[in-house]
Amino acid sequence: MTHELAPAVGLPAPTAAEGQSPASSSSEGRDWWRDAVIYQVYVRSFADSDGDGIGDLRGATERLPHLAELGIDAVWLTPFYASPQADGGYDVADYRAVDPLFGDLADADDLVRTAHELGLRVIVDVVPNHTSDQHPWFLAALADPDPDGARRRYHFRPGRGAHGELPPNDWESVFGGPAWTRTPDGAWYLHLFAPEQPDLNWDNQEVHEEFDSVLRFWLDLGVDGFRIDVAHGMVKAAGMPDIGHGEQASLIGSQTLPFFDQDGVHEIHRGWRRLLDSYPGERIGVAEAWAPSAERLALYVRPDELHQAFNFQFLRCPWEPAAMRSVIDESLAATASVGAPTTWVLSNHDVVRHPTRYGGGAQGLRRARAAALLMLALPGSTYIYQGEELGLPEVTDLPSEVRQDPAFFRAAGQDGFRDGCRVPIPWTAKGPSYGFGEGGSWLPQPAEWGALSVAAQTGDPLSTLELYRSALALRRQLPGGPMRWLPGPDGLLVLARNGLVCTLNTTASVVELPTPGRLLISSDVMDQPGDTARIPADSCAWWAI
Ligand code: NOJ
Repeated sequence: MTHELAPAVGLPAPTAAEGQSPASSSSEGRDWWRDAVIYQVYVRSFADSDGDGIGDLRGATERLPHLAELGIDAVWLTPFYASPQADGGYDVADYRAVDPLFGDLADADDLVRTAHELGLRVIVDVVPNHTSDQHPWFLAALADPDPDGARRRYHFRPGRGAHGELPPNDWESVFGGPAWTRTPDGAWYLHLFAPEQPDLNWDNQEVHEEFDSVLRFWLDLGVDGFRIDVAHGMVKAAGMPDIGHGEQASLIGSQTLPFFDQDGVHEIHRGWRRLLDSYPGERIGVAEAWAPSAERLALYVRPDELHQAFNFQFLRCPWEPAAMRSVIDESLAATASVGAPTTWVLSNHDVVRHPTRYGGGAQGLRRARAAALLMLALPGSTYIYQGEELGLPEVTDLPSEVRQDPAFFRAAGQDGFRDGCRVPIPWTAKGPSYGFGEGGSWLPQPAEWGALSVAAQTGDPLSTLELYRSALALRRQLPGGPMRWLPGPDGLLVLARNGLVCTLNTTASVVELPTPGRLLISSDVMDQPGDTARIPADSCAWWAI
């Protein structure tokens, strides 16, 4: 897999420190989030500072210079809070404490400070739909069967059937099996995810107050925003009606269900927007919301709600030019209707890595590199999942005994493959865990990952890492602005944006075109005889016009 490095384009790439200023510094960078590139750090798998095989906050801090050099604007850290880790930390037992696995509050403070010094902002996860079953609130609810006591913070219900032996309704957990679990005293509680993740009752004012206080805690520590887990799930349809057709919600799905995307969630987000706006420096909220359409998703980013919402329609889109074009058009139109940016994403810790989704092997990597250039050419903000800049594929052969994804262990689970995208990333070509840490790694890394490490790819102009670095540096210099489609041969998407033309060849053959302009960057080697450009199969290029 090869690519031509961009010829010089006349402007030096800004250093990280000259990039967007951190929230604390000034009003420069106003609306910084509208076109920000935000890098997702899956803390457990990013860098391990103490050799226990599990990534941690100090490890992440030590590696921040790599991210600054990559050319991103902000990092999003997945949950590092005190947790029994029944779902990789998305089961929080104490929202104001760092789990000892990942360090302590001083480490969190140090990370935020170091990031700001490097010109990077920091977004942290907040998990408001459910707590851990070890959270003091849930322990109190289990201990007191009074339905009007501590149980009012969750959804406890009597069962159906002659003896209450059947769940209160037919809702299925996203991870498989019923969404209800019975307590020893006979009541049932709701958990849209694992039984260890009881759903909170957002009709209870105390829940609102607690989360306001949690957000303030982290904002006071200096974070620049929140990625809001299950932002579409906190409010359930009144009366919790049966679905009637036994449908299990799929992870990152788009079904219409009585427990997702209810209109009531928007009032919560409005309240949080007011809270975010009461802090200086444009702190942001990004919704992880699974909505049935681009229009429904856009409601989360109305001017008085959140700033961004992940565009999972783009993530789920197959390698098919008509589908890609219409997802892009629909997404841009929907967000434009509310004055918000579109937020592009190709991978995260819940989905099969995109080189594998796009067919795997050499073809998958070619397409992944091309998709990255397409995504970075689009108007709006972009999220990069750790390791995608290395072209890492999904690890598909993990033995059952090392797996930790709760979906894998629930027989009816519809996914079960989330561990394969969470394998710790390689930093060095050699070493016990390819530089991830001094010890091993909590999931085994494939032997070929040494060759994909940061060290192995650095300085190799044909590497995926250098492709990302070059593209991110170029992106900073481009004027931006809206995009429009230009005509092109079948299978070729051609978009133009204020001085930039981006060509994506989705076909398996070379496509010849009159040279669209001066080649800035290409995901594969571009042959340009005379005035012609031979656009390689499954490749993308940027041209200056
Ligand atoms: C979405 C998170 O990304 C995923 O990892 C988690 O399992 C669910 N929300 C439940 O919190």
